[in-house]
Amino acid sequence: MDEYEKQAKEVIEKIDPSLEYCRRLYPSSLMVYQVTRRNSPFVLKIADYREYFSDITGEDKTEWRFLEVVKWIRRERKALRLLKDVSGITHLIKEYKSPDDTHKCPILKEYYDGIALNRFSNERITDSTNQQKMIETIESIHNLGVVSLDIKLENTVVSFDRKDVCIIELGSPIFKTEVDYSEFEKLRAEDLERLERFVFN
Ligand SMILES: Nc1ncnc2c1ncn2[C@@H]1O[C@H](COP(=O)(O)OP(=O)(O)O)[C@@H](O)[C@H]1O
Ligand SMILES: [Mg+2]
Repeated sequence: MDEYEKQAKEVIEKIDPSLEYCRRLYPSSLMVYQVTRRNSPFVLKIADYREYFSDITGEDKTEWRFLEVVKWIRRERKALRLLKDVSGITHLIKEYKSPDDTHKCPILKEYYDGIALNRFSNERITDSTNQQKMIETIESIHNLGVVSLDIKLENTVVSFDRKDVCIIELGSPIFKTEVDYSEFEKLRAEDLERLERFVFN
């Protein structure tokens, strides 16, 4: 076991001893792990200060970047709380207290088994049923007041038989209460444009 894995296991044990570490998921700006609980797979996402420690040019930059990712994960968590009944996304299972000062806002999410579209050859969603499903998912999210969903290949996972699709991450979304009506409508349209441009074509 390498040092990295050892540290990951220690942190996970602190957060929730019922979780078992499987592997780190990439690409990510946060710590994203595949874990299991009673043999079922889940995703554990944490803002981890260690990630920002290696490329420090100055104390301030590190601290600032860490605080940024803490903000992102808080936004994702807030969105997932609102979107618990939306289908076509990986839902929030559990949120935890930060175990210490360098690991913030752990969240446990559903794991969706399949292939991220960026994984091999930048595959696209071309099947019309799957396309329709994604449009409906995004429209339901918008109707709940959440926009700017970071729609891209790496956040879209397709099942191995290609019959189903799931949005596994929403980035750091924006909430209706934070912007005025016209800005909200603009961001809503942008999400659907991104879906067409980057995921369908
Ligand atoms: N719920 C999930 N189910 C399956 N794979 C996932 C899930 N969450 C993340 N992944 C994989 O891990 C990668 C990074 O996770 P993600 O949440 O997108 O991190 P980041 O917020 O840093 O972009 C994804 O691109 C995907 O390949
Ligand atoms: Mg992502």
